Parts: sequence; structure tokens; C-alpha cells
Amino acid sequence: MKLYIDTAIISEIREIAEWGVLSGVTTNPSLIAKSGKDFKKTIIEICEIVKGPVSAEVTVEDAAGMIEQGKEFADWDEMVVVKLPCTTEGLKACSALSHQGIPTNLTLCFSVNQALLCARAGASYVSPFIGRLEDINEDGVKLIKDIKETFRVAGIKTEIISASIRTPYHVTTVANAGSDIATIPYKLFPNMVQHPLTTSGLQKFLDDWKNSQQ
Ligand code: G3P
Repeated sequence: MKLYIDTAIISEIREIAEWGVLSGVTTNPSLIAKSGKDFKKTIIEICEIVKGPVSAEVTVEDAAGMIEQGKEFADWDEMVVVKLPCTTEGLKACSALSHQGIPTNLTLCFSVNQALLCARAGASYVSPFIGRLEDINEDGVKLIKDIKETFRVAGIKTEIISASIRTPYHVTTVANAGSDIATIPYKLFPNMVQHPLTTSGLQKFLDDWKNSQQ
């Protein structure tokens, strides 16, 4: 499973990119607003930092407007992926942009049927939201397994991006469920690397080494 970071804050992207673990970045209008920075400049800067797909989300609700914005975003950098909502208008825009060779990420996906429609409309990626399903007492990880199996049976190549990841355990479970990608908030990366046995084990190695040199 590839790891993306789900943020629009440049310092966060730079820090985790230095670890060499990032394959891409996802943003959404809420994350761009939180960053307080210009949308276009932010996306272009992210593309310079991470050499992988960078999702930029449309901010209109009609297909024609989404297509227009999508074409504009795609001109900013060849790694831009146009993020579209999983709605009827989003499907129309997905189909049109896909036919023009522009990659798309269909977001706010909460069911197998939505994922199937996105794939058939030509989506490069589909983003099921794990945490938000759990917020309403539904099994987000099971959805990843079900979409994966549906895509496998149908021979669909659309990649699954597990989104709305809230805990390090979500990362583990969606990886086991066969997700192609997980897009992870910045604050979870340190939690993923830290382990008390690594910390105590390293301390012992260094202490033993130091003592042997005296
Ligand atoms: O990638 C989508 C993600 O940003 C949504 O996360 O925590 O707002 O449900 P959350």
C-alpha cells in the first residue's frame, strides 16, 4: 500500500517527504482553507516537493464548471489529479476529463455502488472515507475490502485511496484490506514510526556501546 499525506500545509509535507515515504498528496477545500494560502500556488509548490500524484479538488457543483476547473488545474502541473465529488455531476465531469486523459480522484465515496460508478466513469482513483463511516456506526474497513473484491472480480484498475483516516490502526487495517493507497493526516506519521520497544532497544544498544568504549 502506498502512503499519501492528507494536508495542504507545506511545512508538514516537506517534513514527511524527507522521510522518503510519500507517494503522493491529497487536499480538499477544507484543508486548503485551513492552510490559509493561495490554492494554485499551494498545489504547484506541493508538486515541486512530492514527485507523485497531487489531488486538487473542484469547488463547484455542476459538471460544466467542474470540467472547466479540472482542465485549469491539470495545466498547473502534470502530476495534478482532479478531485471530484461522487455525485451525478461529478461522474459526468469524471467521464469528460478521463476522455481527455486527465486523471481524476472521486471523493466522498461511501458505498460499493458509488465506487463502481466512479470506476465505470473512468476514475483513476476512488476515495472511500473510513472515519466518517465509523462516525455513523458503519464499518469503513469492510467497505475497503468490499470495493477491493468488486474491482478484482470485474478487473477494474481504478486505485482505492482510503481516506478520512483517523488512527494509526486504520492505516494497518486498510493495508490488510487491500487498499492501494492510504492518505494520512500529518499527525499520524510520528505515531506510525514510534514504538516503545524501538526506543528502549536503541537506548540499550547505545548505552552498551558507550560502556564498551570506556
Ligand atoms: O481525505 C479526506 C479527509 O480529509 C477527510 O477526513 O477526518 O475530515 O473525515 P475527515
